[in-house]
Amino acid sequence: MTTPLPVLIDCDPGVDDSIAILLALASPELEVLGITTVAGNVPADRTLENGRRVVAWAGRPEVPVYPGCTAPLLGPVVRGKYSGAGGLGGTLLPESAAPAERDHAVDVLTRHLAAAIAESRKITVCVLGPMTNLAVALARDPSLAAGIAQVVAMAGAFSTGGNRTPTAEFNVLADPHAAEIVLRCGAPIVLAPLDVTFQALATPERVQALKARDGRLTRTAVELITFYDRNDPARYGEPGGPLHDPCVIAWLLRPKLFGTREAYVTVGLQPGLGYGQTIGDFFKLTGETPNATVLWKLNAPGFFDLLWDRIAAL
Ligand code: BDR
Ligand code: CA
Repeated sequence: MTTPLPVLIDCDPGVDDSIAILLALASPELEVLGITTVAGNVPADRTLENGRRVVAWAGRPEVPVYPGCTAPLLGPVVRGKYSGAGGLGGTLLPESAAPAERDHAVDVLTRHLAAAIAESRKITVCVLGPMTNLAVALARDPSLAAGIAQVVAMAGAFSTGGNRTPTAEFNVLADPHAAEIVLRCGAPIVLAPLDVTFQALATPERVQALKARDGRLTRTAVELITFYDRNDPARYGEPGGPLHDPCVIAWLLRPKLFGTREAYVTVGLQPGLGYGQTIGDFFKLTGETPNATVLWKLNAPGFFDLLWDRIAAL
């Protein structure tokens, strides 16, 4: 067996973050070095607590979960709409008995990336929430980019328009300045924008297929995903909620499930309707070199087979 890919997961759980964490922990191809949390869907104390509960629920309490930034670099605080007040819908996951980690997410990212550079290794950084933690680490020490194999971020919206404003996707809207810092850092960037994550729609038939699998965690996973069902067929064409964040992990496991495009991506930072918009130059109109691989097409049946099989096997 090949050596597992070392990954850090930076997130704001969140129902779909939690499903993404499960997928990562269920996958022998990945070595989850740690989970750093950030304010996003819910305030930072809650994303930390949810992250701790998710790893405990997954039976992996030894995976460290760290506290992170509590507010965006600049601009207003925005919270998630679809994960319920506590971030995990109505589902009560058991508390973790693991000792609380005191190190801050920014220091943890810094420590891992600096060690990787010192040992001529690289680490993959998965970002499933606002990019504040990674941006602060990179602002403090831009040379850390050399330790990043790739940043794979659920972020942005191009042809679909936004999900929180007509132009902006939530994770970028919640900290557009951080997204801009990460996009400019020089490390390889892969974005999973709404354009691809809207194809990961957990329709009732697909959720039924998870229900039909007999795993230790499937009943609770179905409960989480069912709560998250936005039942918004006007937007998605079918009922169901998009499982945005698991697309990031699926890209690491099965890149062939995705069609991609290269683009030069910047972020709207001026107040107004363009605030938090990701602007993609897909046709080299600006003359700028592309700075991101943008996931664009998803083999949805293959994605759900992978996701459900792995969750059921945990
Ligand atoms: C993103 O926002 C959050 O609500 C989800 O967890 C996902 O990361 C989608 O816009
Ligand atoms: Ca998220």
